[in-house]
Amino acid sequence: MPKTREKEGCLVTGVAGFVGSHLAERLLSLGYEVTGVDNFFSGRYENMQSFIDHPGFHFHESSVTETRLLTGLKSIHPELNHCFHLAAIVSVPYSMEHPEVTMEINYQATASLIQEAVGLNFKSFIFAGSAAEYGNEQRSPLKEEYATENTELLSPYGRSKFLASRRVAREECGVALRCFNIFGPRQDPASPYSGVISRFADMALAGKPLTIFGDGLQTRDFIYVSDVVEAYLHGAGLKGKASLPFSGIYNIGTGQAVTVLDLARAILELSKLSESPDSMIFLPDRPGDIRHSLAAVESFRSASGWEARVAFEDGLQSTLQWARQAVE
Ligand code: UD1
Repeated sequence: MPKTREKEGCLVTGVAGFVGSHLAERLLSLGYEVTGVDNFFSGRYENMQSFIDHPGFHFHESSVTETRLLTGLKSIHPELNHCFHLAAIVSVPYSMEHPEVTMEINYQATASLIQEAVGLNFKSFIFAGSAAEYGNEQRSPLKEEYATENTELLSPYGRSKFLASRRVAREECGVALRCFNIFGPRQDPASPYSGVISRFADMALAGKPLTIFGDGLQTRDFIYVSDVVEAYLHGAGLKGKASLPFSGIYNIGTGQAVTVLDLARAILELSKLSESPDSMIFLPDRPGDIRHSLAAVESFRSASGWEARVAFEDGLQSTLQWARQAVE
């Protein structure tokens, strides 16, 4: 039978989060019915502003630890057949202080959702993995097979994500997408643990010097949020060449390493601020930081046809534009 869009319903857990809200917005724009779940532990109602009243969107304030969550939602929204599972404890420091809660939410709840999705014959299950699953791995670029039981993981967050990704792969019910450093509009700049790009954007707009930990020559693979959203669509078989069932663990990055120093310079330039001794301050290394983190990106590209398309400067520009509006 030909696939009709009316029959495709997508569940997005963590829908009020940074990435979840962008994903829901995109799915709605493509004509899918979207059911969103969030308990506002770290998600924000404002992130859903652009689609909360969309007729195709249905919001449930719930935790992913609720017993038989998927079964309950499916009885209300029978069209549901794809699950995008993004809800998680996302703060590494919080995970250090609350390892058991982190494991319950990030791992056990995921395992239950997988079981339910399989039982309900969902077409796809897409799990938000993380580059943290590589822990202290020194080889670069990071290939999917480098994360093993022997990897020196650096936090309960990394461990919970590693175990959950492995579970997804073992059940062969869907894909775990290990995202590298995601950035873009709606990323919260407020906490000291927020992503470096949202922090730098905030500091530049406030006319404050950008705080660089260490020498600034550490590198990251920064990926713009809309590219990540497209990766999710490919993982669910809604775009690209992968046919369902599609399973495995895949990196989602650009394959380009950017130093924190080059990032700081780019932000100053895009903010029309000149680089001067006052525009950056160098602080001691941040404890526990890894030096380099770069994704090997070939696997997901060959499996699904996806690749990152947004130029780094364009992504920075959009992020700065959003940050400007957010302070107005
Ligand atoms: C990111 C994730 C983290 C995950 C890790 C796994 C975020 C916010 N964090 O951490 O959850 O465990 O990947 O690989 O996505 N920096 C500065 N000045 C600042 C802030 C940061 O110089 O004000 C530097 C940091 O020292 C680091 C780099 O920028 O070297 C990136 O930092 P950050 O955005 O916090 O991300 P990760 O450390 O990669």
